[in-house]
Amino acid sequence: MRKTTGTVTRKLYIKTYGCQMNVYDSGRMAEVLAPLGYAETGTVEEADMILLNTCHIREKAAEKLFSDLGRLRPLKARKAEDGGRLVLAVAGCVAQAEGAEILSRAPFVDLVLGPQTYHRLPEMVAKLLRGEGPVLDTEFPAEPKFDFLPRDETPQGIAAFLSVQEGCDKFCTFCVVPYTRGAEFSRPVASILDEARRLIAGGAREITLLGQNVNAYHGVAPQGGDWTLGRLIRALAELPGLLRLRYTTSHPGDMDDELIAAHRDVPALMPFLHLPVQSGSDRVLAAMNRRHSVADFRRIIDRLRGARPDIALSSDFIVGFPGESEEDFDATLALIGEIGFAQAFSFKYSKRPGTPAAQLQGQVPEDVKSARLQRLQDRLEEARLGFNQSCVGRVLPVLFEKPGRHPGQWVGRSPFLQGVHAEAPAQCRGKVLPVRITGAGLNSLAGEVAMAEATA
Ligand code: SAH
Ligand code: SF4
Ligand code: F3S
Repeated sequence: MRKTTGTVTRKLYIKTYGCQMNVYDSGRMAEVLAPLGYAETGTVEEADMILLNTCHIREKAAEKLFSDLGRLRPLKARKAEDGGRLVLAVAGCVAQAEGAEILSRAPFVDLVLGPQTYHRLPEMVAKLLRGEGPVLDTEFPAEPKFDFLPRDETPQGIAAFLSVQEGCDKFCTFCVVPYTRGAEFSRPVASILDEARRLIAGGAREITLLGQNVNAYHGVAPQGGDWTLGRLIRALAELPGLLRLRYTTSHPGDMDDELIAAHRDVPALMPFLHLPVQSGSDRVLAAMNRRHSVADFRRIIDRLRGARPDIALSSDFIVGFPGESEEDFDATLALIGEIGFAQAFSFKYSKRPGTPAAQLQGQVPEDVKSARLQRLQDRLEEARLGFNQSCVGRVLPVLFEKPGRHPGQWVGRSPFLQGVHAEAPAQCRGKVLPVRITGAGLNSLAGEVAMAEATA
């Protein structure tokens, strides 16, 4: 939660759906609204503006927006009866995809803005308050929003996000992202380094570089030419005070030599990679237009493990893509067994309007999708628990972020992104301490600070 530095007159409540890029964008929206006197609140009832930052990736995600809007409507009416005003804003990918449709389905909404126009929020609010609402802005403006963001970053905490790339040109046949986020765009290196320095000055010790296709990064370098993500990571790792780097989400087709070498050479780059494969069947991958085969994926994993033997892997899977047979699905299960993922996300295929896969023959019945998802998730959970349990007895470096639920307890993350709970001194915040892992569950590890190693 961020506080404004100016006089606080209005309260802002933000609800974020979807991916980490949306989490990052929500933070930036709070910042551009701060000079207007908006300070964030965690209580819906006291808000003067409610901003829903939406996701369009699966059908359920969009439906959630409309049910949330339905619940907010009486709140807005009540506020008006009391002589106040509640501004309802819808941002993000549903706003981009549905735009005017939102205003016709929910006419009590005041502002609709896409992911590329949030730097214009102050203008939009001013227009609305002048009585020129509702305001809709879902353009892809020529001026990149990153050029308009406030210079004085508010602290994001120990583990911060930094968007370096946005949009996607890959057009996987199931996916809305190329339509909602637009064409691939990389921020210039200098502006990323600036933002990283500000985050570190605000207390960040770990930075996760974000992008819908983060490893397709090719930003303009300070001396001209382009840098790849691998090169950018090397430069960021030099910044004093920064202890850890991560990046997400990557496409297998963009795992280039320089990035794999960074995993070998840059100690600050954590040995964890989220690399979505979607399916273990070449037939399905081709229908998805993923542009990589199962063998390509295996080869990348082998090279990554060659560069960084302890690297832990995460992935995304879709079950029930149109035309997916039992054999195709079995091939996905086999790949999971073979690779050994430390964690993963998995989804039932969801038909998205306007995407090519929505038109394909052979849509898989809902009950088959559900049964496959259950089997897949059982396997993934087993693998995840197995990985977590394999950490018991080991001493892992943990970056402590915040107090835990019990007195004296702190929570941090292992290099492999596992949450770790341990008794630790209050000065541990923002520090990496060695922790002997004593217990493991599906979602987190428990441990104790290994004092011998800590003082050694
Ligand atoms: N850029 C990333 C992922 C973006 S979306 C990549 O290329 O992998 C995050 C995940 O949502 C995807 O990896 C995919 O597994 C899932 N997803 C996207 N569209 C979907 C759809 N129509 N139905 C089900 N899952 C979907
Ligand atoms: Fe979507 Fe494919 Fe682009 Fe990932 S690479 S954002 S799944 S189109
Ligand atoms: Fe969702 Fe948009 Fe992210 S569709 S997953 S919020 S890019």
